[in-house]
Amino acid sequence: TRRQFLLGGAVAGVGAAAAVGGDAALRAVAAEPAPAPPHGEGTVPFFGPHQAGIATDAQAHGLFVALDLLDGTDRPALTRMMRILTDDAARLTQGEPALADSEPELAAAPAHLTVTFGVGPRFVDRARGRAPDWLGPLPAFGVDRLRPELSDGDLLLQIAADDPLTVAHAARMLLKDTRSFATVRWSQQGFRRAHGTVRPGTTMRNLFGQVDGTVNPVPGTPDFDEVVWSTRDWLAGGTSVVVRRIGMDLDRWDRLDRSGREQSVGRYLSNGAPLTGTREHDEPDFAATTEIGFPVIPEFSHVRRARSEDPAERIFRRSYNYDDRPVGDGISLSGLIFVSYQADVDRQFVPIQRRLDRLDLLNEWTVPVGSAVFAVPPGCAEGGFVGETLLA
Ligand code: HEM
Repeated sequence: TRRQFLLGGAVAGVGAAAAVGGDAALRAVAAEPAPAPPHGEGTVPFFGPHQAGIATDAQAHGLFVALDLLDGTDRPALTRMMRILTDDAARLTQGEPALADSEPELAAAPAHLTVTFGVGPRFVDRARGRAPDWLGPLPAFGVDRLRPELSDGDLLLQIAADDPLTVAHAARMLLKDTRSFATVRWSQQGFRRAHGTVRPGTTMRNLFGQVDGTVNPVPGTPDFDEVVWSTRDWLAGGTSVVVRRIGMDLDRWDRLDRSGREQSVGRYLSNGAPLTGTREHDEPDFAATTEIGFPVIPEFSHVRRARSEDPAERIFRRSYNYDDRPVGDGISLSGLIFVSYQADVDRQFVPIQRRLDRLDLLNEWTVPVGSAVFAVPPGCAEGGFVGETLLA
């Protein structure tokens, strides 16, 4: 490995220094600072009141896998499955192999791995009797062209890390352990910039080139806690997640000039500033008009339509880009795995999506093809398991 290589080099250097320069040279070499540990050794705590992978800084790679429960997976089986999956996730996220790990070496670089579990309506039905009404398909929207094989599901695994090999290994270990309880319904792979490509804290860009994620509650603030964490019943300390696969037609977007692109969102492409400002986090001025009286941020723009006057109608977005290989004469099959966390889907997410469905210029170039809603149970303490508030 690179570390061994560096270490070998340093030891060889010490030997050579001792041979030629005596004590002074030896001290100079010994004083060299040790190389920083590789980023891949970084871990995110697994246990805690909330599941990791939500307030966690979004890692570079995200894999979303939805499973369908087998008919025989009853309440005791759900408990067994969640105990095993919790144990796998607790180990893998800390850089330890899962029990009976077939490739234990691959566990050694967790690279900020998080595994976040969500449960669908059938899971809750079998665990508890009756799933709440909000847990299930969203209302139908006019823009939707949903494909069943990319929608819904009984159990969600959100597996994210700064290294794709780590994600692949974690997914394989988890899926091996779900085999006797469930089958894979869909899986979607997404990415952001590779770790280290941009400064920490830089808002991500999507494949339209837009700065995407500017107006978002900030993890660690009371505002974030209010938007994201539920206080209700078995979901207290948990949240809900909406995962929507939204195709983005890059070929048609190409035909739009820069000003048209900026008008469709209401922000500049260069740095994401609102069309009424100069810096990314400037507050948009929706009342500002041009010399001839038109709003500077158009009525049909995405940010104007997504913003609500009601402070309760807010969500936390943690999306990933996807870029499938095109076939035939296409040159891109790209889009956004749109991921939204909120305490209450009906109260927070649905009104925003309804407004965007009625009017949003961005709809010209985007089309939702997959959609799923999951309840995300709270985290657990060591010895406990995710889902225990439903099952224990
Ligand atoms: C803001 C892109 C879908 C909700 C934005 C911004 C961009 C963007 C560039 C401005 C910067 C920012 O604050 O992040 C997209 C693209 C989409 C998409 C390309 C589809 C492919 C959605 C959906 C929803 C949504 C489905 C919710 C139903 C929001 C919200 C904001 C926003 C709430 C912040 C608005 C504000 O300023 O208050 N989006 N978006 N977006 N988007 Fe989207």
